[in-house]
Amino acid sequence: MTDPASGRAAASEADRVEAAVSLRISPTPETLERVARVRTELVDRIRAAATERQSPLVRALVAGSAARATFLSDRLDVDLFLLFPPDLPRDRLREEGLALGRAVLSDPETRYAEHPYLRGRFAGFAVDAVPGYAVTDPARPLSPVDRTPFHQEYLAARETPELVAQVRLTKQFLRTLGVYGSEARTEGFSGYLVELVVLRFGSLRGVLTAARGWRIPVRVAEPGRDPPRLPPEVALILADPVDPNRNVASALSRKNLATVILAAGEYLDRPSEAWFRPRERSLLSRADALERLHARRTHVAVVVLPRPDLVDDTLYPQVRKAERAIAEEVGRSDFAVLGSSCAVDADRVLVLVEVAHPHRPAVRLQDGPPAGLDRVGHYLEKWTAPDAPVLQGPYVRADGSLAVETRRGERDLEAVLRAVLPRLSLGRDLTLPPSATAQVHPLSAMPESAGLSRGLDELLAKQLPWLPRTERSA
Ligand code: CTP
Ligand code: MG
Repeated sequence: MTDPASGRAAASEADRVEAAVSLRISPTPETLERVARVRTELVDRIRAAATERQSPLVRALVAGSAARATFLSDRLDVDLFLLFPPDLPRDRLREEGLALGRAVLSDPETRYAEHPYLRGRFAGFAVDAVPGYAVTDPARPLSPVDRTPFHQEYLAARETPELVAQVRLTKQFLRTLGVYGSEARTEGFSGYLVELVVLRFGSLRGVLTAARGWRIPVRVAEPGRDPPRLPPEVALILADPVDPNRNVASALSRKNLATVILAAGEYLDRPSEAWFRPRERSLLSRADALERLHARRTHVAVVVLPRPDLVDDTLYPQVRKAERAIAEEVGRSDFAVLGSSCAVDADRVLVLVEVAHPHRPAVRLQDGPPAGLDRVGHYLEKWTAPDAPVLQGPYVRADGSLAVETRRGERDLEAVLRAVLPRLSLGRDLTLPPSATAQVHPLSAMPESAGLSRGLDELLAKQLPWLPRTERSA
């Protein structure tokens, strides 16, 4: 913490920085006017198309950041919601929604999130046309997007132009840290979550002043009124004001929230424009990584899996699960694991594991039962047989249990991984068929690729994002 005088100096510097950043990231009045026109035009055109097709559309509206002017000037998607009667079957909802979108948008492209939607263009803007149900109670949504019109209503009634400017600043601050976006790939703050915390704490600095003292898990609500079914790894708990059963921050990871907590104190003490300028940094190449491994005297193995045809939001959780399963297995197999990472290429998924040594010891210590148990007889019989591969023992350990040391067959990390991979649960669409031969290579045998660079960067260039890059981390 700082003394009061330097605290005041930091605050006035933050005022200056934030005013300059606001100018840079705010949409121009002309853009805001164009967006406002496009909102009415889009809704009118959708209504006309619905009449023409005799579509059961109940209501069309633009929601999200384009409806509230809370978007960043270089990052605008118009979110158009097409709401249908709750009794419309799901396949019809999808069909009708996509048809209306196609009637109005140019260059339409069907996409899937939790939910199908159409990405297209209208009057020079990128538009997402999302079908949903016109429900009356946002706490009982029929599709994942049905709460959106209620969010729009809740925020529009509370946001002032000052708060809108603070929302943009907060989005840009989080974006610079790489934690803006609630997609599974990012595991960061959704736009809606940013708006709610800015409402709650009044400004970017209000949010950061609260955040610098947070301990994970963080509760931004009355205690004792948590949404149900919180996962054990939850980072931040903030009940959706329109649906108290939903945690708005469910996508946010502990790693990303911890990054924000640390950054909050740093920014408040030493504000500067750099906190709002995403850094361009080249990723670690395979050659750089090999040099680092040489200096670290460590070893990296790469598991290569075929990439299943899934949308990112489904794929990334599975890839992270595979990474965890592989790293844990390597640890259990007597390698000293220093770290792991994962990355996705166009046609393959990579999991990287760094270990202290590429070979494990030739000796394996196998625990036995404590003296006095019935199982001892069986254990001794097994390990005193003439052909038992015993290097030392059986013997009694200090704690009174039996042990034996045996010789290992396989000692290379790559060979061990190849043998165990078909038995590991790697995530639904990544698990190998039992007959498959897994591809595992030392880093030196891997061809360069964009995915490999991302994985290596995550593994060997770890550093708080605001620190200056040094020689060892450059
Ligand atoms: N939404 C939601 N839950 C999510 C994603 C979206 O409830 N996980 C709803 C929110 O009401 C949000 C709207 O869908 O306002 C649009 O989503 P999105 O485009 O992701 O967010 P924006 O608020 O528009 O922010 P951004 O500036 O990032 O587009
Ligand atoms: Mg949006």
